[in-house]
Amino acid sequence: PAKLRVSEAVSGAHLGANVKVQGWLRSVRPQKANLFLHVNDGSALQSLQVVASSELNDPLLTLGSAVEVTGTLRKSPHQKQPVELEADQIHVVGDCNPVDFPFKKKERHSLEYIRQFPHLRCRTNAFSSLLRIRSEATTAVHSYFKENGFVQIHTPVITSNDCEGAGELFRVEVSSSDIKFFSVPAFLTVSGQLHLEVMSGAFSRVYTFGPTFRAENSQSRRHLAEFYMVEAEVSFTQSLEDLTKVMEDMFRSATEHVLAHCAADVDLFHKHVTPGHRVSPQGHLLFGVTYSEAIDILNHSSQKFAFPTDWGCDLQTEHEKYLVKHCGNVPVFVTDYPYDLKPFYARDNQDHPKHTAAAVDLLVPGVGELCGGSLREERLDLLRARLEETGLEDTYSWYLDLRRFGSVPHGGFGLGFERFLQCILGVDNIKDVIAFPRFSHSCLL
Ligand code: 4AD
Ligand code: MG
Repeated sequence: PAKLRVSEAVSGAHLGANVKVQGWLRSVRPQKANLFLHVNDGSALQSLQVVASSELNDPLLTLGSAVEVTGTLRKSPHQKQPVELEADQIHVVGDCNPVDFPFKKKERHSLEYIRQFPHLRCRTNAFSSLLRIRSEATTAVHSYFKENGFVQIHTPVITSNDCEGAGELFRVEVSSSDIKFFSVPAFLTVSGQLHLEVMSGAFSRVYTFGPTFRAENSQSRRHLAEFYMVEAEVSFTQSLEDLTKVMEDMFRSATEHVLAHCAADVDLFHKHVTPGHRVSPQGHLLFGVTYSEAIDILNHSSQKFAFPTDWGCDLQTEHEKYLVKHCGNVPVFVTDYPYDLKPFYARDNQDHPKHTAAAVDLLVPGVGELCGGSLREERLDLLRARLEETGLEDTYSWYLDLRRFGSVPHGGFGLGFERFLQCILGVDNIKDVIAFPRFSHSCLL
């Protein structure tokens, strides 16, 4: 018999064929004359219905056990599944004790419940759909950049710079000895931006998409210690609009791709998760306010905020959520943040008395900040002066070189990939959109 994946078997292309299918049991229904099984191997959302005579029943055929079924594919009399496998032989490859197995027949387990089993939750329908969607969303991101002439750069995971200057670095050391492996302190990257800036000076348009690490002592629903970030850097940008255009295009294109390619998985996922604040890619004009306008909006609101809203304050989650609501529950760009709030690389708007930098955040319903970006300070004298103020001019002498040798106006942004998934699927907790979440006090597996 030909070995088929479940996705091939259910496609209907092999009716009448003698086949072998391998997978795990998602349901077991013994009836008088027949035994009905659902076999899933993750290749598709659908499971393959297996019909066997009761003689083939075996006490080891239980929810979660691994099986190999040989038989003939035929048209199913039931409308729910067009194809079923009439079994001649069922072999239990690995049994699964139903008493100990944490997932039970016919129960719809919540995302909170299955989160307790990071090594097993991929066996549930909801989480396997989520992981297939995540995989397709990865493809969507790469497709967007490929179609738009960006070169992908593998920026390093180990680095000696603290790009964001926020002091949330994990240090890298040799575990078994006191040997200093690197001659300078080394850290896990918080952002590939500075390496991308190097590359934008040769390729004009570059991006990176990989793991990013922050020692944020936060138990929030939108922070992880290890998350995936999509970062892009574009040379010859004249204004923040050039940048927000790329952010908006990428967001829209990736969202449309996912909804078009994963419709069935998205539907199934939403049988388990009520999407509270899903963003549709169509029909929404991305709205823009300046930071100063945002502060005015917050100060005129009747809502009492826990954090201050004076000009110069960083926007907190509660502020971001309010702004999104105020603007009609659509994605909102906030531009021109106070200069002093932004890292050394942000471009000085040289305005006063309210001194701002050409930085932008994209806020989205339910999540708040999804992207952060800016124009970069390309003027050597201004950049050098700012680095000197903080004593960083030696550390970043290579970065200053980029401004000495063919400097051009440029800018870029980073999008939190997990927050993107939260946003398009309406998932409340970031830990439910990544296979193995890492956060403070938790590094399971
Ligand atoms: O706003 P951030 O800190 O921006 C940067 O790191 C820039 N250097 C990016 C660039 O311009 N190339 O981070 C970018 C995005 C945030 O908007 C957020 O979506 C996500 O990364 N993010 C996190 N996601 C999950 N857990 C965390 N701890 C995150 N911190 C940031
Ligand atoms: Mg930010």
